[in-house]
Amino acid sequence: MRGKNLIVRISLAGLFILAPLTPFFDGGLSQTVFAASHEPVRARRGMVASTSRIASEVGVDVLRRGGNAVDASVAVALALAVTYPAAGNLGGGGFMMIRLRDGRTTAIDYREMAPAAAHRNVYLDEKGNLIEGEGSSTLGYRASGVPGTVAGMELALKKYGSGRFSWPQLVEPARRLAAEGFALPFNLSRALRNNRESLGQYPETKKILLKNGAFYEEGEVWRQPELAATFARLRRFGPREFYEGRTARLIAEDMRRNKGLITYEDMKNYVAKERVPLRTTYRGFEVISMPPPSSGGAVLIEMLNILEGFDLRNLGWSSSERYHLMTEAMRRSFADRAEYMGDADFVKVPIAGLIDKGYAERQRRGIHLDRASTSAEVRAGRPAGAESEETTHFTVVDSEGNAVSNTYTLNDSFGSKVVARGTGILLNNEMDDFAAKPGTPNSYGLIQGENNAVAARKRPLSAMTPTFVLRRDGSLWFAVGTPGGPTIINTVLQVITNVVDFDMNIQQAIDAPRIHHQWLPDEVVYEPFGMSADTSRSLEKRGHRITARPRYMGDAQGIMIEERTGVRLGASDPRNFGEPVGY
Ligand code: DON
Repeated sequence: MRGKNLIVRISLAGLFILAPLTPFFDGGLSQTVFAASHEPVRARRGMVASTSRIASEVGVDVLRRGGNAVDASVAVALALAVTYPAAGNLGGGGFMMIRLRDGRTTAIDYREMAPAAAHRNVYLDEKGNLIEGEGSSTLGYRASGVPGTVAGMELALKKYGSGRFSWPQLVEPARRLAAEGFALPFNLSRALRNNRESLGQYPETKKILLKNGAFYEEGEVWRQPELAATFARLRRFGPREFYEGRTARLIAEDMRRNKGLITYEDMKNYVAKERVPLRTTYRGFEVISMPPPSSGGAVLIEMLNILEGFDLRNLGWSSSERYHLMTEAMRRSFADRAEYMGDADFVKVPIAGLIDKGYAERQRRGIHLDRASTSAEVRAGRPAGAESEETTHFTVVDSEGNAVSNTYTLNDSFGSKVVARGTGILLNNEMDDFAAKPGTPNSYGLIQGENNAVAARKRPLSAMTPTFVLRRDGSLWFAVGTPGGPTIINTVLQVITNVVDFDMNIQQAIDAPRIHHQWLPDEVVYEPFGMSADTSRSLEKRGHRITARPRYMGDAQGIMIEERTGVRLGASDPRNFGEPVGY
């Protein structure tokens, strides 16, 4: 009996070994790479990939009824504020990259702004040390920047919506989800429980998110009546209600009662801005990404430019050389991030120099194949002229070929942990993305410089990297983005090189194990089971420090257009619970 089982097992194993060689499993790969978790989701017309199936469905419903990718994105962003409150938000901010079918590309910046009362030393005590706990840049009422999401959605819809959907129509699905509730998914009930201590400190938050300490269980229907009432006001009075109406007043009052920084004037003065995206080519394919106040686009482009000088394909995906070169590109580009980057409306950022191919070539000269550099020796270069599940990205492509790549956030999971009384709105702790004390690490261990010091009405530097990659004929190839604090930029980098250099499909490219290096601390972080012991030893021999604590990174959401058929291929990260939905 045992013997027979063994034979069955051996022949099954044989099947798996043979499988990649049979024509039935032809993925069009030029070399063998690991399989994807599953094939991408296919749809002929439109696709939404987000971290919440319910939100993806809300978006596809808008697409089906004739909305374009921007209309759908507004509905998805508002719905995620209900179904994925750790990061989806009304009380935070982010970036929406838009690429229209005619090739025009733009970036909507709805990043939070520092309140007028904020200043360079606002998070330091009398001795000049960083304040911790309540009053700090990470927790409680003083940690929030003025929220930008509603203004961002308003601007995107006004300028780039199809005109076939009104604001109230796009607010309604979110209102309904908040009022009628939805079955709590496992990851949300787990996240709420895991954050019970910090969330429980604030009575309004405890009441709404923790059922007053009794906890919401997986599968339980969760209704958010206060948030539903806020959406009802937004639907009725329009987006300005958030900044000038009762919602603005409620936020300002709660801030005043609790020594927060945001005033009614701050709310009224918030502005979303349209920005010009950054561009480069990587091996002939155009890459378009987010400019400041995100560091994402510039750091991504510097890394791609450095890596372009190496033949990654021939070195092989699993070679220690690839890991080594990736790490060296990351180290140098993150050193530049720390030195140079900040809100370009306030400080001079040498963007043109940082993304210049000649500069990358000079950076490349310091890289040796046989040994690691140290971050102590790698300071920022001299260009002409520098975060888990807490942020969220979604990608939308409509039937006409318009596309949106949107990343937005409260910063940490559930932001500042404060729900503004009477609004149901969780507020961000984005002020921690400033260098509260330049040269001292923030909650992601990122060192940041003077250019990212706190100042009134300034936007904190971000790493969010919503990105498009085009085919050589200029048509959209794929769109992608992810959460993950500083790991965001490196995740997007690896997805792009996985596709371009290793012919992976969008699901494989997202599934593949990732590494991360951010200059300081000087260590390579890898994912559990994501690096062979041999590779890690080989990297250590070159002088790399490999982390003792591997951890998963990111929650990427991507859509690729299949070349021959135009079919939309949706892919959600297997590291979380998202799902693409198409039609
Ligand atoms: O804007 C940024 O770069 C950060 N606030 C993003 C935070 C984040 O991704 C947290 N998620 N893991």
